[in-house]
Amino acid sequence: MKTTVGIVGAGPAGLTLALLLRAREIDSVVLERRDRSYVEERVRAGLLEQNTVDLMRELGVAARLDQEGLPHDGVYLRWQGQTLHIPMTELTGRTITIYGQQQVVRDLIDACGERGIEVRFEVEDVAVHGLDSDSPHITFAGEGGEERLDCELIAGCDGFHGVCRPAIPAGVLTEYEYEYPFGWLGILAEAAPTTDELIYAWHEHGFSLYSMRSPEISRLYLQVPADEDIADWPDERIWEELQARLGVDGWRVGEGRIFDKGVTPMRSFVCEPMQFGRLFLAGDAAHIVPPTGAKGLNLAVNDVRLLAAAMGAHFADGDDSLLERYSADALRRVWRAQDFSNFMTQLLHRLDDGEPFGARLQLARLEQLKRSEAARRNLAENYVGLPAAPDF
Ligand code: APR
Ligand code: PHB
Repeated sequence: MKTTVGIVGAGPAGLTLALLLRAREIDSVVLERRDRSYVEERVRAGLLEQNTVDLMRELGVAARLDQEGLPHDGVYLRWQGQTLHIPMTELTGRTITIYGQQQVVRDLIDACGERGIEVRFEVEDVAVHGLDSDSPHITFAGEGGEERLDCELIAGCDGFHGVCRPAIPAGVLTEYEYEYPFGWLGILAEAAPTTDELIYAWHEHGFSLYSMRSPEISRLYLQVPADEDIADWPDERIWEELQARLGVDGWRVGEGRIFDKGVTPMRSFVCEPMQFGRLFLAGDAAHIVPPTGAKGLNLAVNDVRLLAAAMGAHFADGDDSLLERYSADALRRVWRAQDFSNFMTQLLHRLDDGEPFGARLQLARLEQLKRSEAARRNLAENYVGLPAAPDF
């Protein structure tokens, strides 16, 4: 097989890239290890920045997002019985939208199908070759044995555990990593949210987040130790802990049947550069953020916005200046998001270092957010995301 851009991974990064390239009349093939229903049903976060929604609209894949997405004007911070509203839209003129990542993925896969973009699911043993040559190619095991895809450029959109980043020779990449000693236990419940906006709660027992997926479905998270066994969390214990961390006098979290639960560890990770020869990394393949800043999906989409523009200039005009700058341009926003995600994480999570000092600093920062509009504006600007730019 032959194509112009070989894309490894059918997550938000790979699928959005394929559609952005198609809009520039550049052919691609997407290779995905899992089957279609696995990819479409994998439960992940669900907060879209304005930039992400704008890009989905530009691509013509936002019909269902515009109908079912839940636009929000702000979030609440809650601690020690106090609730502070951060009015994002009032402070920044921009909005955020709640729409599950698996819905985004479903819409993107449908659009690829309609536009004749080949997405090959269930391909095994994907390997990338000739990255620093003029003829890179990808091999994989398909239905008919080993197959080979020749391409001009390769996009590694295969997530943190993919094969593209490890295919870069030793010594090329610098990796920055921080592992948090805690994770998030996340649930989906058939319960009407009893809050109009998301609630990020600081509590002596640990962090908790109240989010939602629809007027009937709540999405909730609890900070737990990184190696927590989900078997230790029967439904009653989850609700009890959510009520303790999020509840205030006269108000409770709406309860209902839990139909999905799982624990995810939290880490910060960046590799630099996001390129080697003809291989370009995008999304989780190059960076991971803790979910407290809600940036993972938005960063993935931002990477491929820059990458598609750069590949477009390469194929249309033979102009490689944007491709050469791709990594530096993408990393600017990646590091901004790393800093913000770390800030939100360190602000709200129980630190468990045996010292009460950290908790007192957290409360001082929350108090500052209450007193200072500048502090609230800073948080809001980071949370909604700075406007897209050709170099950011
Ligand atoms: N061969 C083919 N496909 C692979 C391989 C492989 N060896 N390894 C991984 N994949 C696929 C995964 O199955 C997955 O579908 O690559 C895809 C990567 O998708 P994501 O993990 O969703 O990563 P990305 O597209 O960068 O999106 C980032 O996802 O992890 C969340 O919170 C994160 O919202 C962020 C978003
Ligand atoms: C979610 O709705 O899943 C969600 C929202 C905000 C976050 C993380 C997850 O910071």
